Amino acid sequence: MKREIIITGDGSSTIHIPEWNEQYHSKHGALQEAKHVFINSGLIPYFNENKKTEISILEIGFGTGLNALVTWEEASAQNIEINYTGVEAYPVATEEVEKLNFVEVLNDQKAESFFKAIHTSEWEKEIKITEKFNLKKQKKFFQEIEDHELYDLVYFDAFGARVQPELWSVEIFKKMYEALKYNGVLVTYAAKGSVRRAMLEVGFIVERLPGPPGKREMLRATKKIVA
Ligand SMILES: C[S@@+](CC[C@H](N)C(=O)[O-])C[C@H]1O[C@@H](n2cnc3c(N)ncnc32)[C@H](O)[C@@H]1O
Repeated sequence: MKREIIITGDGSSTIHIPEWNEQYHSKHGALQEAKHVFINSGLIPYFNENKKTEISILEIGFGTGLNALVTWEEASAQNIEINYTGVEAYPVATEEVEKLNFVEVLNDQKAESFFKAIHTSEWEKEIKITEKFNLKKQKKFFQEIEDHELYDLVYFDAFGARVQPELWSVEIFKKMYEALKYNGVLVTYAAKGSVRRAMLEVGFIVERLPGPPGKREMLRATKKIVA
């Protein structure tokens, strides 16, 4: 499918798929959405609640690497070690990566080498990108994930249910539930009733939270310890 780079409401870029009229991030602001959903509603509350200094994250849809970039920024500030697994079936091409403006928008010199490193690192291998950021990119379909209690957090960032309803199903959320450790948390920008019901069906405790600009709500799902 054709992909083109566009600029979103906060000045940061993203990828647009004309055929689906779908973006990799919110048109209102890619960077502000990534920070709101995955950092401020995911990583930070998880860290504050669990006080772990090493956190394992599974990203559903590695895409442009923006979520990995904002995770590294926040984790560096908080001195958290991150083990980051990014699953992606259709990797972004080098020419596309070069057109993304995240590093300029973040205005952080160290971000440039980090962003380059995550995109040039080898797939299927655990790579030490920095002292405290380990990355494993896996080129496969989400449907193939069979992990068992490996992750503290899941960043569920698939395309919307309008274009890929099969990825917002009980079958996929079962895999996410299985992949999480107890007390693990899944965050997503989505807030649809059918998505919430699928999460509840597989056993998650689900919260509706305020969404990023342009979106009323988002969801956070927790795998609670059964007493
Ligand atoms: C919303 S975008 C992800 C955005 C990404 N998190 C970022 O920060 O750029 C969804 C991603 O899922 C990938 N994808 C779509 N269907 C997939 C599937 N069945 N298995 C694996 N990856 C898939 C797409 O190629 C795309 O990169």
